[in-house]
Amino acid sequence: MSDSIQDRSKQSLTYGGYYQTWIGNSDTELTDISPDTPCGEYLRRFWHPVALTSELGTRPKLVQVLGEDLVLFRDKSDRIGLVHRRCPHRRSSLEYGVPEERGIRCCYHGWLFGTDGATLEAPGQPKRVQERICQTVTLGAYPVKEYKGLIFAYLGPPELKPTFPVYDTFNLPGQELVPYKAPFNCNWLQVLDAIVDPLHTAFLHSRTSREQFSTGFGEIGEMKFYDRKTSFLGTSTRRVGDNVWVRINELVLPNFTQAGAAFAADGTKQRYYGRTSFVRWVVPLSEESTMCYAWAVFGDRADPPEYNTPEGPELIEQGEPFDRSDEEKMLYPADAEATESMGTITEHEKEHLAPSDRGIIGYRKRLRSLVRDLQDGTEPIAVADGWPNGPIPTYGGDTVLHKPTNGMDDDAVLRAVGEAVMEAQFEAEGLPEDERVEIVVRRLKQIEADKKVDGEFA
Ligand code: FES
Ligand SMILES: [Fe+2]
Repeated sequence: MSDSIQDRSKQSLTYGGYYQTWIGNSDTELTDISPDTPCGEYLRRFWHPVALTSELGTRPKLVQVLGEDLVLFRDKSDRIGLVHRRCPHRRSSLEYGVPEERGIRCCYHGWLFGTDGATLEAPGQPKRVQERICQTVTLGAYPVKEYKGLIFAYLGPPELKPTFPVYDTFNLPGQELVPYKAPFNCNWLQVLDAIVDPLHTAFLHSRTSREQFSTGFGEIGEMKFYDRKTSFLGTSTRRVGDNVWVRINELVLPNFTQAGAAFAADGTKQRYYGRTSFVRWVVPLSEESTMCYAWAVFGDRADPPEYNTPEGPELIEQGEPFDRSDEEKMLYPADAEATESMGTITEHEKEHLAPSDRGIIGYRKRLRSLVRDLQDGTEPIAVADGWPNGPIPTYGGDTVLHKPTNGMDDDAVLRAVGEAVMEAQFEAEGLPEDERVEIVVRRLKQIEADKKVDGEFA
């Protein structure tokens, strides 16, 4: 397109479709995740879930992750292997392999491979040749870790394997974690965006669809974003009658996400330091498909146990069941409709980012700088290394305080309460969980009781 037509398009705001038909570019620096791409290399420095434990039976399973076709299997000694799909002999797929005591045997000529990729047997060859094959030929393999119903893998250089990060929400007392997965037919970045986009809950999950969670979600809250270097928090503070409801969405780079309760917190009842209702990773399968692997969380501080039904995790994930008719999708669109309808890889160049997208702008910028740093030789920080003595603190959750407006400027009240609630949590981070709860809840009750002083809460 010539410059002159682009210039004209700026002046043609009405019936200007003719001037807007050019195709925009995608942000390939962040959307390309396959091997030998900058972001693919960065993502290969982290553990990612690749399957639910319940999906892995006695037969091997084909899985896709970060643009690679892989085979997941459990051998008869109960070890899990994650290996390249093609046998190094003559390239048959190991999805047809046979799990044995010591690994997986290729269906075609019976070569046997351990879960670490070592060739253990190459039958039908002279003994000396067999030995040489076993010494020199390996199958590509990755380390895995099974944890609470999810199978995680690390696809990066083995010598740089980070400590498996254990976040505080993995082991909160009285909480039940229910594994689930949610597929998206689009690039990972547009799925990830939603977690730092609190505004969409007021529209997609309430006003423009139906009340998919609770009535309070329809309120547009006062939004604030926190850039904590490798994590981003977005708070939405809403007025619900005499209450102030602070909801915290959370992203830990590159793809770990949490938020408040889907059903338990609706702003109508006081709630002190509720925690996330999902613990979730947005995992790129290919450039054009994504799988969210997650636990739905049920218990006092998350969603109530009565929502722990077969469809409960799907409703927590997006407010609607995944499998529904086209008509239902039209009437009640949810996250899948909003994100997949952007196209499999959205044209970032054609976006018009607004102030409510500050969280998205911030995390993409940080992600890009981390991707570039790695290209320049600086490895990303392993998040677990920052918290050697305990679980990694996180913030996704809800607090609802009784805080009538009392004739004050309500936007200012919402902003002040939202900030004070976050400060209460920041001050207690790193403490053992029971101490942290005690301190944060005490502080939240103080905020609730405090009178407004010069626009701040004492
Ligand atoms: S192709 Fe696998 S053993 Fe021959
Ligand atoms: Fe959503």
